[in-house]
Amino acid sequence: MHKRVAVIGAGPSGLAALRAFETAKRAGADVPEVVCFEKQANWGGLWNYTWRTGLDEFGEPVHGSMYRYLWSNGPKECLEFADYSFEQHFGRPIPSYPPRAVLHDYIAGRVEKSGVRPYIRFCTPVRSVEWKPETKTFSVTVKDLVNDRHETSEFDHVIVANGHFSVPNVPDFEGIEAFPGRVMHAHDFRAADEFAGKNVLLVGASYSAEDIGIQCYKYGAQTITFSYRTKPMGFDWPEGFEEKPLLQKLVGKTAYFKDGTSREVDAIVLCTGYQHCFPFLPDDLRLKTNNRLYPLGLYKGVIWQDNPQLMYIGMQDQYYTFNMFDAQAWFARDVILGRIALPSAEEQEADIRQWRAREEELTNPFEAIDFQTDYVRDLLSATDYPFLDVDRVAALFKEWEHHKEAGILTYRDRSYPSTLTGNMAPVHHTPWIQALDDSLATFLAVKEAAE
Ligand SMILES: Cc1cc2nc3c(=O)[nH]c(=O)nc-3n(C[C@H](O)[C@H](O)[C@H](O)COP(=O)(O)OP(=O)(O)OC[C@H]3O[C@@H](n4cnc5c(N)ncnc54)[C@H](O)[C@@H]3O)c2cc1C
Ligand SMILES: NC(=O)c1ccc[n+]([C@@H]2O[C@H](COP(=O)([O-])OP(=O)(O)OC[C@H]3O[C@@H](n4cnc5c(N)ncnc54)[C@H](OP(=O)(O)O)[C@@H]3O)[C@@H](O)[C@H]2O)c1
Repeated sequence: MHKRVAVIGAGPSGLAALRAFETAKRAGADVPEVVCFEKQANWGGLWNYTWRTGLDEFGEPVHGSMYRYLWSNGPKECLEFADYSFEQHFGRPIPSYPPRAVLHDYIAGRVEKSGVRPYIRFCTPVRSVEWKPETKTFSVTVKDLVNDRHETSEFDHVIVANGHFSVPNVPDFEGIEAFPGRVMHAHDFRAADEFAGKNVLLVGASYSAEDIGIQCYKYGAQTITFSYRTKPMGFDWPEGFEEKPLLQKLVGKTAYFKDGTSREVDAIVLCTGYQHCFPFLPDDLRLKTNNRLYPLGLYKGVIWQDNPQLMYIGMQDQYYTFNMFDAQAWFARDVILGRIALPSAEEQEADIRQWRAREEELTNPFEAIDFQTDYVRDLLSATDYPFLDVDRVAALFKEWEHHKEAGILTYRDRSYPSTLTGNMAPVHHTPWIQALDDSLATFLAVKEAAE
């Protein structure tokens, strides 16, 4: 009987899996039946913007954590699919830091061309995955939200690709319950203009704090105060920005920090990260990790050690994104197709331990970039994914780090060459700090005007 594969989620990771199988099928391989279950009404995962927060129209937790005016925070040349360049999609080179809608268009364009949409069941969250040792299959129960009906079916393999930047990590702070202003987690942040004229406090010192802080500044916030737990971001912040150690308590509108200083603030955004969350998985199949480059339990970061019929894509902390998910998807596909033989349990464990030990020695972002580059290179060497020059991608990531250090408000004005075509991206016509309209039409019209 033909094998069946369930893919959970149609974000960039799940779509990479669909693309991988479709590519093999078009090359003549006998591929399993693939069914992708997606809880939202459209594909693209986080890139599928929603204005909603809290619960959606079906009472399901809203997946989206992206906000209006979100632009790529890394060069698009670092995430470019090796089998589908930006030039192929847009018909010409475009600037290096596209806004969200443009990246969504690019992600969707590739899978639209693959014809994989019929494999996806939209508005269908997975509720449970149960291993059946007697048949060596998984029973997957989903809810058809539109018809308000549960369904269960059997699969030989399950690929978990539901993302890990959706369920917020929300710490408590003394006095926050009586704070007389807006308090939210980054997951619920949607429009920076809400904070025009306000003194905004952002708790956290990573990408969300950095980007939401500069978004609020761009759209008119009066001051931006960051509060870090471990170490400050340390950028050369312009006037109006300040970094403080960890928030200790709030008394009315006054925030008190660990160094004894205080500040009046009008609004608080908790940029305190996310939790890996798999409510549909039993304990023995469930990845338990924080946000890091090499979670334990996954051989090559993909194959569930205790049951290789279960796989995960996209569970690592991410410098690399779309093309890393592709590398993982091609690897998962080839294990399923029997093209890659898995080594013994001992060898898998030793391989995981060796990556993890190296991860624990990393001391700065440049080493972290090299680490993830080597990880992607390792995966790519095992499959027929088209050539991706990861050394050039790594060099671009490092340039990007330097450009951020040189100007946190200007790094998005830079351009980089595609590692696929070698063509330099055109400079965006409007400096990012002045580009208030983030629509695809304006971004592309701009491109024409710039030529
Ligand atoms: C605010 C923010 C900004 C970011 N900006 C960038 C950026 O600029 N550049 C970049 O490269 N990366 C960025 N990222 C990283 C982002 O994680 C990846 O780009 C990418 O979206 C990850 O893809 P994914 O498919 O693994 O997860 P997701 O995009 O989260 O997609 C997971 C999918 O699974 C679905 N799903 C969840 N649970 C279920 C279920 N039970 N049943 C069925 N379906 C389910 C969801 O609805 C969703 O469609 C950003 C992340 C965040 C949070
Ligand atoms: N396109 C964009 O511009 C954009 C914008 C936002 C986010 N993103 C993406 O979104 C992803 C997630 O980024 P993220 O910043 O949300 O998560 P993250 O990178 O996991 O960082 C979480 C932050 O929260 C802090 N934190 C956690 N618990 C805390 C506590 N109890 N008290 C104080 N601080 C606490 C952490 O501090 P410690 O360092 O002390 O652990 C860390 O600074 C990244 O992949 C990023 O690229 C992209």
